[in-house]
Amino acid sequence: MCIMNYSDIHDRIGSWYHHHGRHDLPWRKTNDPYIIYISEMMLQQTQVKRVLECFFFPFIERFPTLQSVKEATLDDVMHAWQGLGYYRRARYIHETAKIAAPSLPTDPNRLIKLPGIGKSTAHAIAAFSIKAPLPVLDANVKRILRRFFALENATDAHLWEKAYLLLDRNDPYGYNQAMMDIGATLCLPKSADCKKCPLAGGCHGKEDPLAYTAIKKEKKRAVKTTHYLLLRRNRKILMCKRSGPLLGGLWELPSLDHEPAGCKKLFEIMHDYTHFRRIALIYRCDRTDISLKDIEGEWIDMDDLDSIATSSLEKKIFSTLSESDSD
Ligand code: ADE
Repeated sequence: MCIMNYSDIHDRIGSWYHHHGRHDLPWRKTNDPYIIYISEMMLQQTQVKRVLECFFFPFIERFPTLQSVKEATLDDVMHAWQGLGYYRRARYIHETAKIAAPSLPTDPNRLIKLPGIGKSTAHAIAAFSIKAPLPVLDANVKRILRRFFALENATDAHLWEKAYLLLDRNDPYGYNQAMMDIGATLCLPKSADCKKCPLAGGCHGKEDPLAYTAIKKEKKRAVKTTHYLLLRRNRKILMCKRSGPLLGGLWELPSLDHEPAGCKKLFEIMHDYTHFRRIALIYRCDRTDISLKDIEGEWIDMDDLDSIATSSLEKKIFSTLSESDSD
């Protein structure tokens, strides 16, 4: 039975947030749209704990303003993003800085036109910086809404409609942050702690919350095999800078789609991306085996490898290499 009107639910959400919300998150202690923007970009694909422990502070220290991102090279931004994955986000931040610096807009209609900022991220930046009365709709909030309104097969358009309906326009900041916290601590994908939930009095799905969990699309990963060449000259190693949408801007070993003739295979590594699995075969190639004129690369000193932005696959390759050192 649903007994409450939205105004009562808003009061309960507000009070719950006051007592249980994660107020200490650093991006909640500022109204600077740039800081909020960086946190939202990081949190799009990465857990709060990892963002907080490993990435947020070093990035903000290196790039305290949008202007500082604009003045940096893409390489520098990629380097600060290294390890977070989904590197497209770092390229978007650099492009956004080029367009919008010195300051990020707070108007959601302008935000949404910037590269990599979707409707939910635009709403989050506007709601958290200037308290714009707009709902955020990330994966956690979608799950809460599906359960609250007992929606089995809701489209995004349907969920947006419900998000506007339930929004507390008097306190969009606290409401949106609370919804994220409720989704992260109570209304979880595989369980729901309805006894503690401030929305329970109006929730149509609380008898069987798991019935309203999003149906996961089966991911069929394609498998790609890539042959990586280890070409060394004294203490230097030949590296190439990738271009294109996947991992563009990161440095990697030169690679071929076919087995290189006359090279010794050292080891292989399996690496998963969002849409495919890569089998990476690593070869040691003496310079005489491979024609270097077809490879657009740079000789990088082995001691400088840490200061260039490389993907996690390259990191796996180099750490396997140093364990088994093949020299
Ligand atoms: N995920 C996306 N935005 C967030 C925020 N502001 N707080 C916690 N988790 C989030």
